[in-house]
Amino acid sequence: MRRLRTHPRLREMVRETRLSPSDFILPLFIRHGENQRLPISSMPGHSQLTVDLLAEEVKEIASLGIPAVILFGIPAEKDAVGSDACDDQGIVAEAVRAIKASGTDLLVITDVCFCEFTDHGHCGIINDRHGTLDVDNDATLEILATQAVTHARAGADMVAPSGMMDGMVGAIRGGLDAAGFTNLPILSYAVKYSSAFYGPFRDAAESAPQFGDRRTYQMDPANAGEALREAALDVAEGADLLMVKPALAYLDIIHRVKQAHPGVPLAAYNVSGEYAMVKAAAEAGWIDEQGVALESLLAIKRAGADMILTYFAKDACRWLG
Ligand code: PBG
Repeated sequence: MRRLRTHPRLREMVRETRLSPSDFILPLFIRHGENQRLPISSMPGHSQLTVDLLAEEVKEIASLGIPAVILFGIPAEKDAVGSDACDDQGIVAEAVRAIKASGTDLLVITDVCFCEFTDHGHCGIINDRHGTLDVDNDATLEILATQAVTHARAGADMVAPSGMMDGMVGAIRGGLDAAGFTNLPILSYAVKYSSAFYGPFRDAAESAPQFGDRRTYQMDPANAGEALREAALDVAEGADLLMVKPALAYLDIIHRVKQAHPGVPLAAYNVSGEYAMVKAAAEAGWIDEQGVALESLLAIKRAGADMILTYFAKDACRWLG
């Protein structure tokens, strides 16, 4: 076997998996206000940006060769039903228009979920059923469709529902089609686990649940067969692309979903906690940041992901040269 590893050029020629800037989707956090870039302490290198600073930011992103961004909004006002998310003047709609006006040709993906917009921090409308507070699945489907159409009207190129409501893809597809957006693709967070790795994101997006947790809608990390059911349901409902999230602790799931749906493009989300761990260990001098980050991204792709949502997107493009 070592004959194939001897010459560096040959090593390149027999390499089975390659990373390229076109694999990456960069998450952006957009906040209300003006001329502010607020660093997110648990995610070094990332900030909440106001809409007026976006044009400059996306020009840099596009110049690195990154094809797509995914937007998360932090609105000025939160309420019980997340009204800002369905408002044509809401934070995400404004951000989409700003990016579309910037002159770049980036693909603009919007996260479709309510946890950043509700005062209780849950991903939909809360119901009190016999004294138990929980997210009302079908009431939430209606506002998810409205949110997706709001993003589409603002000019979004793709919507990515992340709330793990049953039937969300079908409801959003129906809403988009009825509003005339028949060509707008849906990237479904089909397989999203209830994960401790989302901690830094919840600081960044100010979206931590104010009571309870997300275990009645996000998946149990113990389950793999269930991931295949989730993926199959979303494909049947019309998902154009699937996602597995988080990525590194779920490489087996990425592999299985890709095998079960070889013809469906698969994204994996290298989430905030996965990013923060590498950053922290690198800062302490315990690991080599570039080496660990690129090896992790490569592993996600080797497992079966066609594209990766990652906070390392800009750095990785620079490292890959
Ligand atoms: C929910 C959402 C979450 C993330 C992306 N979309 C967090 C959650 O479910 O609480 C997490 C992403 C990350 O950790 O980087 N809209």
